[in-house]
Amino acid sequence: MKRTALILLAAIFMLGSAWSLDQQSLVNTLASTPPMGWNSWNRFACNVSEDLIRQTADAMVASGMKDAGYQYVVIDDCWQVERDSNGNIVIDAKRFPSGMKALADYVHAKGLKFGIYSDAGTKTCQGRPGSRGYEFQDAWQYAAWGVDYLKFDWCSSSTQDARSSYELMRAALDASGRPIVFSICEWGTAKPWLWAKGVGNLWRTTGDISDTWQDHKKWPDGSCCSNGMVDILDQQVGLESYAGPGHWNDPDMLEVGNGGMTTAEYRAHFSLWAILAAPLIAGNDLRDMKPEIREILTHKEVIAVDQDPAGNEGSRVRKNGDLEVWSKVLQDGSRAVVLFNRGTAGAEIGVSWEELGYPAHLSAKVRDLWQAKDLGEHKGTFSATVAPHSVVMVTVTP
Ligand code: GLA
Repeated sequence: MKRTALILLAAIFMLGSAWSLDQQSLVNTLASTPPMGWNSWNRFACNVSEDLIRQTADAMVASGMKDAGYQYVVIDDCWQVERDSNGNIVIDAKRFPSGMKALADYVHAKGLKFGIYSDAGTKTCQGRPGSRGYEFQDAWQYAAWGVDYLKFDWCSSSTQDARSSYELMRAALDASGRPIVFSICEWGTAKPWLWAKGVGNLWRTTGDISDTWQDHKKWPDGSCCSNGMVDILDQQVGLESYAGPGHWNDPDMLEVGNGGMTTAEYRAHFSLWAILAAPLIAGNDLRDMKPEIREILTHKEVIAVDQDPAGNEGSRVRKNGDLEVWSKVLQDGSRAVVLFNRGTAGAEIGVSWEELGYPAHLSAKVRDLWQAKDLGEHKGTFSATVAPHSVVMVTVTP
């Protein structure tokens, strides 16, 4: 009897560890490069509907964004209105009359993936029902709808512990049996880069981005601070070692094309997000893109820097006032480099091979990515004139 019980126990234990190994691999094979997609919030806020999502999925294909690598179509806040008497989340039926399953099917039929939003607290940031206390029920529901990506916010979280709240939803997603990319949106408050690897596939490192170059003003309640693009950038310095395949720092979604910055500023924004190996989640109206915006969002060589399979996050290797150099080690040993001029006058910016981790005597090919133009062999240094609020982005290949 005793022996049988022991064998039984051992079998249960082995099954258990096989299950958890399996669940681990489920987490770790997702988002092996930074997720690419679109999210409704930056441009549409609460004005979401199934028409918008269908048209956006159509536009993602027609505009060439899908071919460029964009995959996830994510509905942010405001799709949900209440819970029914069984605790099931209720969709806004006026805005989503066909329901989420039908919408997910539509997105999937386009060869794309479908994402949704909820919150670890009792309410979302727009006061809709959050998932607190309903984590497993909600995860099961998302899986049944065919959800592939969950952004999970942090409003109305009161005294909740961030790590255990996100671990709980991680467990719920695992139990749902569906591989779902898990996007932690905790604004960097509890330093998720220190604990969220293995919990989420990406984690926000800051408060919300705004469609401005630089901002950093206090909010009306006196708390700190709104973030323009460069304010967000500054908060990434020092976080680079925490990112890698399956687990990314998320400096927030793109504002490219939303109208608050110039085309050169949007090109800088996109280049810097690529060098950071940031998730590339477009936040503009894909149905109505100016050609220059489409060109930025679909630029294959810049996207390739973001999606480099080694998964290294780039870092700032030099700052001289408004003039900065950012560099990222690519899988083939070459470097992607952004020469970044934050100032209001054009300036010459140079980078030395030592700053890139190369010996000075090395001869290397330099290629301008935005111009898709080879700039020849260089030895020891490279420099270029960079327009105000602009970048020059190159690869350096020994
Ligand atoms: C928070 C998030 C944003 C967005 C809104 C929605 O502010 O950080 O990205 O999801 O909530 O209400």
